[in-house]
Amino acid sequence: MNKLLAVLMLAWLPVLCTAAEQVAELEPVKIDVSDKAAMQDGARTFVNYCMGCHGAKYQRYERVADDLGIPHELMLEKLVFTGAKIGDHMTSSMRPADAKAWFGAEPPDLTLVARVRGTDWLYHYLRSFYEDPSRPLGVNNRVFPNVGMPNVLVGLQGRQVIGCKQVPVVESGKKQYDPLTGAVLTHEACDQLTVLPNTGSLSQEQFDEKIRNLVTFLAYSANPMKLELQRIGTWVLLYLAFFFVFAWLLKREYWKDVH
Ligand code: HEC
Repeated sequence: MNKLLAVLMLAWLPVLCTAAEQVAELEPVKIDVSDKAAMQDGARTFVNYCMGCHGAKYQRYERVADDLGIPHELMLEKLVFTGAKIGDHMTSSMRPADAKAWFGAEPPDLTLVARVRGTDWLYHYLRSFYEDPSRPLGVNNRVFPNVGMPNVLVGLQGRQVIGCKQVPVVESGKKQYDPLTGAVLTHEACDQLTVLPNTGSLSQEQFDEKIRNLVTFLAYSANPMKLELQRIGTWVLLYLAFFFVFAWLLKREYWKDVH
């Protein structure tokens, strides 16, 4: 019985190892869901570039406007293109059956995607589309191989290609050096992404910032209560601090007579 258990546990090892490898590959990205300017920019990108296919059907325009500090008139004028009313859910007008026929897969609703995939994954996914003539839409993704989604941000990012490059050898997160010459050790890796110069309207830093803002918006959308809880949490802590002072004064008053 014990042997069987050991075999079963060992059988899992390769799965666990590959899972760990994939996570380690994606550099963590810092997302701050209290940064309203970032989320406003992210919301703008979302309605302009994503809602043609994806919805955020558990989210309402009004709630987003209120949470992100956008006046209702401005929200309706700049961020609502479907003729929806301010209290409506943020649904996409694409019919799922059409989407399936065009892309081979339905674009999933994105309200909760940040919880399902995590913000690191989203950030790297949205930056990792590259040209691949063997795919039906001429595009592939390093993080989501053979994805059905077209590269909708190519106009901003520019054309990205994949190829071989010399990259530093990294072990346990550290670059390795040649013990004799002190030079950085490199090896050839053939999954390296490069943006062709002057093919997109944003610089690489600006594009990364745009994506970070978009992911910040998606992170907020998956957990809109977080902002509220942070605000309430601050008041609770202030109240406790205030209460502590009184409790301490009271205790001192009582014990004065006991000593
Ligand atoms: C032209 C239609 C279209 C547009 C526009 C579009 N997508 Fe997609 N997207 C898709 C399709 C189709 C899939 C499903 C791909 C698959 O499963 O192979 C997808 C998948 C995704 C996924 C993966 C979801 C998952 O967990 O499997 C994410 C995340 C995503 N899209 C985000 C975005 C964002 C953010 C934007 C805006 C910048 C966007 N998409 C714009 C069509 C689109």
